[in-house]
Amino acid sequence: MGQTALKTILVVDDDEDIGESIVDALSEEGYNIIHVDNEEGALNFLDKKRVDLVITAIKTPEIDGMRLLSIAKERYPETGVIMVANSENIELTIRAIKAGATDLQIKPINIEKLKISVGEALKDRIILADSIENPHPLDSKYGLMGFVGNSEKMRKVYETIIRVAPAMTTVLITGETGTGKNLVARAIHHNSPRKDKPFIELSCAALPETIMESELFGHERGAFTSAVKQKKGRFELANGGTLFLNEISDISPYTQVKLLRVLEDKEFERVGGIETISVDVRLIAATNKNLEKAIEDGKFREDLYYRLRGVTIDLPPLRQRKEDIPLLVETFIKQSARLNNVKVKGITDQAMQFLIEYDWPGNVRELKNCIEGMAIMAKGSILGVNDLPKYIRRSGDDKWQVNIHVGMSVRDAERELIAETLRYTNNNKALAAKILNMGLRTLFRKVKEYDIN
Ligand SMILES: Nc1ncnc2c1ncn2[C@@H]1O[C@H](COP(=O)(O)OP(=O)(O)OP(=O)(O)O)[C@@H](O)[C@H]1O
Ligand SMILES: [Mg+2]
Repeated sequence: MGQTALKTILVVDDDEDIGESIVDALSEEGYNIIHVDNEEGALNFLDKKRVDLVITAIKTPEIDGMRLLSIAKERYPETGVIMVANSENIELTIRAIKAGATDLQIKPINIEKLKISVGEALKDRIILADSIENPHPLDSKYGLMGFVGNSEKMRKVYETIIRVAPAMTTVLITGETGTGKNLVARAIHHNSPRKDKPFIELSCAALPETIMESELFGHERGAFTSAVKQKKGRFELANGGTLFLNEISDISPYTQVKLLRVLEDKEFERVGGIETISVDVRLIAATNKNLEKAIEDGKFREDLYYRLRGVTIDLPPLRQRKEDIPLLVETFIKQSARLNNVKVKGITDQAMQFLIEYDWPGNVRELKNCIEGMAIMAKGSILGVNDLPKYIRRSGDDKWQVNIHVGMSVRDAERELIAETLRYTNNNKALAAKILNMGLRTLFRKVKEYDIN
């Protein structure tokens, strides 16, 4: 399954010999190792990237391992942390384990013991959705309701939202379908001084010109045949608040001119009316099309584009911020469980790897729908590779393909193969043993050893 399946281990130690011997030994095992010699470097790294395991000195002048442990656990609850101590210190050991450390190794490091400890920590972990019981820190910090994701790209988006929200500036939100444009529009409104005033949305997609005009500006009674009474448009309804024009690229040239005028003069007339109406409206527009191309093609006015583009927020597609996928998956598992009253609690690391590998052309929306579907259809309480829709399992048509790849230990590969064969035989151990060409007693022992059920 390519690079993402390689487990990443962050080693934090300022004792050069130790650091290097750990790095050498674990690199040989096929792990992707990052070595830093101080706490700050480690925190900087964790800011940018999730790792599968942290190995850290418990206490040195440069490193406060306990602090690192608590920060790593807070950010990535499912990441294991192995502490390295100078000597056996029962009190410290207990404190570390209580704080969530996976294991403790004592110097001088016994490399074989360490390898076993690492192997255990990285075993096909089950990622419990419960580990994110608390809302994401960004939520409480920024009040950006609904956003999940800690990637640098998304942090930039959050920062821009916070910066533009209080201003009057028009905001243009771009990005592929399902990347969260609606969410951004709402977040801007909710973080602005207008938050208690209306947030009005109008989708401009495929609205006939006359309807579009009356939707935006309203109409007087008798303006056209079906106008039996006066109607307020969205601009009036949004007065004091925010108007969100979605799919802005679809509006007709005529409406574009009218819109430009409102943006410049903050005034308009209802269709069929003579009274000039002034409004105080903040405009946010969104599109998943390329407006610059539409301008080139003569379909969108350049002057309107510059007016709309006070600030542009371009949402990155999910495939360019794959590090957000685990947290999104965990969040959606919890949401689906609650909304549909199903018992799904988590997902295997293997299945998660497939979700990370997949390209997500429909972005976060597609991921959300996918998890919801899986949660409803799942047979057990933990989502596994076999619960994934076929198009995500790259193994394609063969339902019984086992996912073995470079970066996995022989032990993990064996576990996968045995578990899959048992599923294939409907847990008929005698048949499975025959297929695996393994003694029945050996199979029983391995099932127990690998905790396969
Ligand atoms: N960062 C995110 N965290 C959590 N949920 C998200 C995130 N981004 C999008 N979603 C969810 O994904 C779904 C799609 O988001 P949204 O409707 O905002 O996308 P969009 O960019 O407006 O798509 P379209 O171009 O198709 O209108 C929504 O259910 C939204 O709540
Ligand atoms: Mg949308």
